[in-house]
Amino acid sequence: MLNRIANRFLANSFSKIMFEYTDVNWEDIDTEHVGIYIHVPFCEQLCAFCPFHKVVYRKELKDLYLKAIEKEIHQRGVTGEVEWVYIGGGTPNLLKPSEIGRILGALRRHVDLASIGMEGNPLQFTSEYLQAIQELGVEKLSTGVESLKPDTLQHVNRAKADEAHIQSLVNHAKDLGFTVNVDLMVGLPKQSSDDFLYDVDSVGKINPQQITTYPFMEIPGVRVAPEMSSRRMFDLIEAADNILSGHGYFRENVWVFSKTKKIYDSARDELVIDYLGFGAAAFSKVGGLQRVNPPLPLYLDMLQNGKVQAFQTTVDEKSEHWRRFAHELYNLDLDAEIIQKLPRSIKFVLSLLRFAGNVKENHVTEKGRFFVHDLTKTVVESLPFPVNNPKAVLNYEEYEHRLDTTQALLLKGEPNNEFAESPRTQQLLGDSSQPSKC
Ligand SMILES: C[S@@+](CC[C@H](N)C(=O)[O-])C[C@H]1O[C@@H](n2cnc3c(N)ncnc32)[C@H](O)[C@@H]1O
Repeated sequence: MLNRIANRFLANSFSKIMFEYTDVNWEDIDTEHVGIYIHVPFCEQLCAFCPFHKVVYRKELKDLYLKAIEKEIHQRGVTGEVEWVYIGGGTPNLLKPSEIGRILGALRRHVDLASIGMEGNPLQFTSEYLQAIQELGVEKLSTGVESLKPDTLQHVNRAKADEAHIQSLVNHAKDLGFTVNVDLMVGLPKQSSDDFLYDVDSVGKINPQQITTYPFMEIPGVRVAPEMSSRRMFDLIEAADNILSGHGYFRENVWVFSKTKKIYDSARDELVIDYLGFGAAAFSKVGGLQRVNPPLPLYLDMLQNGKVQAFQTTVDEKSEHWRRFAHELYNLDLDAEIIQKLPRSIKFVLSLLRFAGNVKENHVTEKGRFFVHDLTKTVVESLPFPVNNPKAVLNYEEYEHRLDTTQALLLKGEPNNEFAESPRTQQLLGDSSQPSKC
């Protein structure tokens, strides 16, 4: 009961956000320390579990997108000290290394880059690819293995995993000096408990520096339903902890097991650091503002026509405090100084958690780990992604009208419209209504 009250308090502080789709001025934004997120919304096939903003890869569309993203970077500029860069997707390694180089080059014309990471499908990370992106300054890789079982992968429309390839990719990447994270998922349809534990043990033996075990989350846009309870997924992640400690991993936080402190973790870092997002449906959060770029058709149109628009909302001080608290819980260790500065309402929730035995001194207890797992899952599942969500956008009808008109123009191929040259099929612009990373 106490857990449920605390869970509601926290989840509500994230889910009550309302965006407005509006003209924005990026020049008003000052950045001292900032992260940079680049969204690459292309995949060879669309996995049914994935809610992120993406379309099936088409060369013509990718060419337009690259031009648009370079233009966005130059138009907007970036100032301040960059603490990390993360290229996510979609499947960023569908871009050639030279194309990743174009994006990094555009950024480097404005700022010095640090801690560059990118994610991608294991199959596209070949030896040559790794060598080339290492020369571009990429240091961290995250690759979605998700499951090693062909049946599970087939059921969610994902290409088969090749264990031998994953082993040689991890070995080669480590030899080149990369730090490597492997994502596994638990709770996918047709995935048994034994399947997941087999995956954990096998990937532990493959020995990347980090392994993330995501519970399958029912975020809007996902096209299959989980067949396992949140409790069962948690119990399996606890069992993964046992297996992975045998392989020399420590528990970095509720879902991440690590041999290094050097890996970027989006669920952790994006809650508390200001970051600027570039690309379709990319999130930015700077100071008291959260902005989300328009989805692909409107994004391309915006860059062509020099309009600058985004979904925007303010993040007030109270929400900032709740985010910080959620972040501390997620890490399983609460920083006493941060806790001291939190308002009384949050300290009250913390005292409930202590009373219920979820937190002892400043550590999340074994019992409390389930609370944190379930809370993080609830928060992610109820985050208001504005792109396809009438409930999260004040002027949704106006936005939808602009989206329909732009989509119609793109499909019709107006003269003098450079996007007219892109393939005019619904498939090309379809499935573009989901959130990118947040
Ligand atoms: C943005 S995805 C990109 C994966 C990349 N396209 C690949 O093929 O490796 C990053 C990670 O999010 C996780 N993920 C995606 N959908 C999820 C969901 N519904 N619930 C939990 N984790 C999810 C997966 O583990 C995935 O590797």
